[in-house]
Amino acid sequence: MTKELWHLGDQYAGQTIDPATCDPDPFVEVRRWLASAVAHPVPQANAMTVATIDERGRPAARVVLLKEIDAEGFVFYTNYDSRKGHDLAAHPLAALVFWWEPLHRQVRIEGTIEKVEAQMSDEYFASRPRGSQIGAIASPQSQVIESRTALEAMVAKVERTHGDAALPRPSYWGGYRVVPDTIELWQGQQSRLHDRVVYRRAGIHDAWTRERIAP
Ligand SMILES: Cc1cc2nc3c(=O)[nH]c(=O)nc-3n(C[C@H](O)[C@H](O)[C@H](O)COP(=O)(O)O)c2cc1C
Repeated sequence: MTKELWHLGDQYAGQTIDPATCDPDPFVEVRRWLASAVAHPVPQANAMTVATIDERGRPAARVVLLKEIDAEGFVFYTNYDSRKGHDLAAHPLAALVFWWEPLHRQVRIEGTIEKVEAQMSDEYFASRPRGSQIGAIASPQSQVIESRTALEAMVAKVERTHGDAALPRPSYWGGYRVVPDTIELWQGQQSRLHDRVVYRRAGIHDAWTRERIAP
């Protein structure tokens, strides 16, 4: 057995966090933490792992980009017919994880998931570079394709079909919003004695509680 990974990266330290001094609203804290990660700068601070479960209860996780924190939750965009899209149709539940290594901070978010309003997806799609729009239309995300050449042919077909005209958002592409019931802020500290503050609420109209949990 090789032991080269045994001593990799386990010394952390940061500003102490405590439930007593955290904002009662976890959205305020997550926005603050995200802003400091962006300012640091942590590369791609909005990249997060999103975990889903399929119809048989098998978990899968992948990285996507957080595009908005609105009043209800955390929004990312993807293909609704992708593997994650099928998972979310079977189980509308998701978990998100951010890891901001330079700050020794992790944020975990769990909750139910819903598609964002069509108009919101339309607006975001329209704001994307044309190349990304074409890619989103052309790519049957998560399906087996024969080759890169086959993918390029799908892109060329979309380009031919639409010419220079504005590209409408396809019905199979849009946003999801994770509406959280649990949010954990994790601040690495020395000797594994990390700070963990977990916020929970029973339903979206209930107040958030916050507690310290053991590292
Ligand atoms: C840094 C990074 C950002 C990504 N952002 C997105 C994204 O915002 N939306 C998306 O659909 N896929 C994104 N991907 C690709 C996904 O990780 C994944 O390959 C894709 O969504 C298909 O996942 P699925 O087959 O589980 O549905 C990103 C990948 C990386 C590494």
